[in-house]
Amino acid sequence: MSDVLLRTESIGKEFSGVPVLTDVTIEVIRGEILGIIGENGAGKSTLMKILAGIYTASSGGIVFEGKPAVIGEPHDAKRLGISLIPQEFNLIRELTVYDNVFLGSELSRGSGLLDKREMKRRTRELLAELGMEISPDVTIERLSTAQKQMVEICKAVSVDAKLLIMDEPTTVLTQYEIEILFKLMRRLKSQGTTIIYISHKLKEVKAICDRVMILRDGELVAVEEIDAISVLEMAQRMVGRELSQVFPEKRQPEEEVVFEVRNLTVLGVIEDISLRLRKGEILGLAGLVGAGRTEVAETIMGVRKRSGGEILLHGTPLEIENPKAAVDNGINYLSEDRQGSGILTSFTVVQNTTLVSLGNYCRSLLSLIDRKREREATSRHRDRFNIKAQSLDTRLEYLSGGNQQKVSLAKSIDPAPEVLIADEPTRGVDVSAKQEIYRLIHDLADKGLSCIFISSEQEEIIGMCHRVMVMKEGRAMGTLEGEEINEEAIMYLATGIHEGVV
Ligand SMILES: Nc1ncnc2c1ncn2[C@@H]1O[C@H](COP(=O)(O)OP(=O)(O)OP(=O)(O)O)[C@@H](O)[C@H]1O
Ligand SMILES: [Mg+2]
Repeated sequence: MSDVLLRTESIGKEFSGVPVLTDVTIEVIRGEILGIIGENGAGKSTLMKILAGIYTASSGGIVFEGKPAVIGEPHDAKRLGISLIPQEFNLIRELTVYDNVFLGSELSRGSGLLDKREMKRRTRELLAELGMEISPDVTIERLSTAQKQMVEICKAVSVDAKLLIMDEPTTVLTQYEIEILFKLMRRLKSQGTTIIYISHKLKEVKAICDRVMILRDGELVAVEEIDAISVLEMAQRMVGRELSQVFPEKRQPEEEVVFEVRNLTVLGVIEDISLRLRKGEILGLAGLVGAGRTEVAETIMGVRKRSGGEILLHGTPLEIENPKAAVDNGINYLSEDRQGSGILTSFTVVQNTTLVSLGNYCRSLLSLIDRKREREATSRHRDRFNIKAQSLDTRLEYLSGGNQQKVSLAKSIDPAPEVLIADEPTRGVDVSAKQEIYRLIHDLADKGLSCIFISSEQEEIIGMCHRVMVMKEGRAMGTLEGEEINEEAIMYLATGIHEGVV
């Protein structure tokens, strides 16, 4: 038996005449964890979708287990034993967790009846292995983004695949959950599963993969044994140039308190959260998945109804009943749930960018929209973040995940808010765009923006924030400042455990 499980032969892919992949020949070796990295829009997801039968290649072929394989639709891939955890979730919101896990591969008993009990049992078992306490019976719409991610992982793992493809499975997970996922991956590998792993978190790639492949503008530029390449080299070969200092210098915020939250409570969700934001200050919210960080943001924005507490802007209490009221008061939210509440995928780049700021583009008297100014503003955001789209009128569903994220960020800063709550602002974004986002947030802070910065990447929290509030189970466990902000201190507050967690 050859040790090559899958080979692509000169795969090419075009979308309406625009080449996205050119001549990609790769070999995936049985039992390995193969990392694939590349900038946003490099073609990683497109290549994986071809292997999973979601897209068909424009040219080239696939050889699986030594035989030419025709993968014309997802069912073909499934039959071969190829399972994909997609970058954008593909779950049915109204169905339960276990329905989703076994959708299309339901278990049945001898009589032909569905074996619900067994499906629930297996779902519970897999979720427990991933450290998630979710009932198999809840509907997807009630889950957080991280929990949805875990359900996608269960779904792909439940079928005993020969080749498991994971397209950025960790963007919304914290280090703690990532370690649990890595354990699962190591177990699968030891049982003979081959894994392709895509991530922009290069340290993870270094930690878990055996080899790494680098795609740039749709072409394969390198294949390396993981021990032969450093994280910095990976980053540089991905972008094709030297990279500079990652985090900008932190400037002192001003004394003036702009925004304050006092004793914010949502029964059973968050309890007694108080925080103050000075002008130009970046306050981090850290904690494990489920700690309540996003819930704090959603409560401030009026998405969730608070059962107690006050929200004050410049010392004046605000009644925020819904997100629009928050935006009208100069408080904006960049949601971690990109496709859930961040952007509208059937709308264009321009429409999404000015979605909440459209009022600013009206010519005063006639309230006609000044389309030219709207396009100019969008085009500035595009240049700044290097948003890859065929045009400003391209619908967002045709952009890569990271590029959708950049539009989502542009949308949240376009109204020039006074307070920005950025929830996983760099989710799925490549190294160079990340740096640009860090610089942008610091530039805005220098001009007076106050920012609540939520991130599952500790490095980001440490590098970006003036102060960090750490949450656990809906409560604030402590706030760190200056030199106190380090990995151990955050981990200790987040878990209550000193070391040996990860
Ligand atoms: N259905 C589609 N129609 C048109 N263009 C598409 C379509 N899907 C992807 N593209 C384009 O193909 C290119 C590669 O996208 P792909 O999603 O493969 O990138 P990626 O490497 O996964 O990026 P990211 O890191 O942002 O997820 C992008 O420029 C994207 O706009
Ligand atoms: Mg992608």
